[in-house]
Amino acid sequence: MGISYDLSAPEVRADPWALYAALRDEPGVHRVGPVDHFLVARYADVVEALERVDDFSSLEMANQLGPIDALGSLMGVEARDLPPTIISSDNPVHNRLRLIMQGRFSPRAVAKIEGPVRELTDALIASILEKGECDLVRDFTIPLPVIVIAQLLGIEEERFEDFKRWSDALIAIANARGAERQTHLAEITQLVQYFLAMAERRRSEPSDDLISVLIEAEREGDRISTPEVLAFAVLLMVAGNETTTNLIGGMVEAFMEFPEQLGKLVADPSLTRRAVEEGLRYCSPVQGLFRNATRDVELAGTTVPQGAPLMVCYASANRDPAVFEEPDRFDIERDARRHVAFGRGLHFCLGANLARREARIAIEKLLPLLPRFRRTRDERDWVDSWFLRGPKTLPLALD
Ligand code: HEM
Repeated sequence: MGISYDLSAPEVRADPWALYAALRDEPGVHRVGPVDHFLVARYADVVEALERVDDFSSLEMANQLGPIDALGSLMGVEARDLPPTIISSDNPVHNRLRLIMQGRFSPRAVAKIEGPVRELTDALIASILEKGECDLVRDFTIPLPVIVIAQLLGIEEERFEDFKRWSDALIAIANARGAERQTHLAEITQLVQYFLAMAERRRSEPSDDLISVLIEAEREGDRISTPEVLAFAVLLMVAGNETTTNLIGGMVEAFMEFPEQLGKLVADPSLTRRAVEEGLRYCSPVQGLFRNATRDVELAGTTVPQGAPLMVCYASANRDPAVFEEPDRFDIERDARRHVAFGRGLHFCLGANLARREARIAIEKLLPLLPRFRRTRDERDWVDSWFLRGPKTLPLALD
């Protein structure tokens, strides 16, 4: 079978790594589908594209990310006319937005939620133990980040179920058409109404949550507009959920595929921090994101024409043998810190400290169970996306 250049093709979804390897073997920037765009595959070229922020703009992100598009539909405007979000803006807008939220995601700020995240993880594991079997994705890797970000945003506990549904709709809308899209839009409308009402409450009664941080910035003058508050809150919901879910699920799969690595971690749990970095490299939960050329730009010897969309493929860079020896081997003892799973430079993941902490706690707490887990179904399925990657389900029994 020839190599397909369509990232959404079933054989590529099942094994994107073969395609990335083939693309890395060819110098330059490649054209791929499903929507015709360029893709940059080698580590050095990915880093270069991310660092050349004047040549490669992040405005393209608004056209590629479904949820943002959905917000546009709700407001009756094209995605490109929406207020910029932190991830889909260039400077000076980007810095203005990033400064508002940066402090809340610093290592010190994130360390404060260690206790609640541990408690939540214990509760999720207790219910798995009680049942003796689970779909680890449904029962653990999805609820953990969803509940954490809901708590940080200040969502009331009794709305967590709604929040989860809204959050699912935000992800699912990217691939939905017709009636299905309308159903998701209805959910997202509820979410928007909820956030608007919540913002209103926080204006008169500020609290310690992330919505209050946004409202405080709004109050201070022209730091952020009300539509930007809404878009920021939605982005925080989306950016941190499926990504962290995919990381934890992907790592559990990797440990099942490489049982000797699990043995090493069981023998020395102090390797957890390293294991999470290797998990980020090996799984690359976000396989790639988008930029567009601000003019005709040379990259890796290819001209990317002005306006052309470019996918920076973090996943391919993370398996580049020029940087990582035997890149297809999951090896928790390697020093994987040069990975670009969180991007690089200006748009480096705002939630990286939070994601790392959640993953570390999850793996640490799951560790006693991991050797006892047995797959109850051999077939694999993957999340419905060609730029996010992780197991869609993980049905397991406890031996
Ligand atoms: C394993 C989990 C995660 C992965 C793999 C991941 C990956 C990424 C990547 C690759 C970018 C760079 C975007 C670019 O280059 O344009 C990014 C940006 C971002 N991430 Fe994450 N992310 C994760 C978790 C989180 C969490 C938990 C949050 C917050 C709750 C979050 C919030 C953001 C935000 C707000 C940005 C935009 C930053 C900016 O543009 O300055 N992410 N993430």
